[in-house]
Amino acid sequence: MREEFVDPIARDDHDQRTDSALRPRKLADFVGQQELKKHLAIVLEAARQRNEAADHLLLAGPPGLGKTTMAGIVAAEMGAKFHVTSGPALERAGDLAAILTKLEERDVLFIDEVHRLSRVVEEILYPAMEDFQIDIVVGKGPAASSIRLTLPRFTLIGATTRTGMITGPLRDRFGLVTRLEYYEPDELRQIVQRAAGILDVAIDHDAAHEIASRSRGTPRIANRLLRRVRDFAQVRNSGAVTAAVADEALRVFGVDRLGLDKVDRSVLQIICERFGGGPVGLSTLAIAVSEQTETIEDVYEPFLIREGLLARTPRGRVATTAAYEHLGLTPPDRSPELF
Ligand SMILES: Nc1ncnc2c1ncn2[C@@H]1O[C@H](COP(=O)(O)OP(=O)(O)O)[C@@H](O)[C@H]1O
Ligand SMILES: [Mg+2]
Repeated sequence: MREEFVDPIARDDHDQRTDSALRPRKLADFVGQQELKKHLAIVLEAARQRNEAADHLLLAGPPGLGKTTMAGIVAAEMGAKFHVTSGPALERAGDLAAILTKLEERDVLFIDEVHRLSRVVEEILYPAMEDFQIDIVVGKGPAASSIRLTLPRFTLIGATTRTGMITGPLRDRFGLVTRLEYYEPDELRQIVQRAAGILDVAIDHDAAHEIASRSRGTPRIANRLLRRVRDFAQVRNSGAVTAAVADEALRVFGVDRLGLDKVDRSVLQIICERFGGGPVGLSTLAIAVSEQTETIEDVYEPFLIREGLLARTPRGRVATTAAYEHLGLTPPDRSPELF
């Protein structure tokens, strides 16, 4: 992950607490993702009318786009209890069975990083999702027997940063498979202004827009940058945040015009300067920037690709001409089919 203690814009404990304070609790307060909201509004209303649990829901998309928030909203909108766990936390079949047997009718069970469930746990989940049943093995050896338990009708919400790593059988058991997209600057501006209201920060429209346009399309980053800008404004002047103050603060914290941070830039810089623009294999790149391959793939790459700074080719990652220009470097002469 990011260098939590060195990077001034990485999250700290306090940030994590405000993260949850900033989470919208109603569908109407969730900014953007119009299509997802439209679909969910119908599915949830229909389930409420039938007095049933909502269908299982899979939320995919890069970190910080609102998957956990949306899961909480679904529970709140259904008036249901919200249980939270994650793929890596469920090591043994018994871990999942213990949670499932505590559920009540229409509860929401949220499994974060659902692509990291172990095989045995995933297999318990299939009949639980489909038939609301689990088989529990009691006893050991030849005396072992299995008993079938009927579960209350619950809603499973899975979140993943990797749709590609969800197995077919698991994916097929979700009634609704959705993908969260990066946010538009204007949506992020609304998110920043809403958060500023909650945090009691005086911020004008242009300043909110400045922060929004440098947040990598990601609400979590927008909120984090808002807090850093607030710190800066408080220390440097009266505390009121204008576009000029926001710009200066973001520059101090190493967030550039496109919203790229240190790691983003070093990914591009290394490809351009050390590998002649690429192609570079993912694992080589990860070692060169001291990050895990998974972090590069989930956190950094999707945005750089979306911004047209990085391209994926069968032979590895390639920096585009736009990347050279953004870094103020001269692009080499290369065959155009690389782009
Ligand atoms: N659509 C949104 N509207 C307002 N705030 C949002 C939205 N999406 C995310 N956030 C904020 O961003 C932060 C990160 O969201 P989260 O749900 O934890 O993302 P994920 O689970 O996808 O990593 C939350 O604290 C929440 O306040
Ligand atoms: Mg989350």
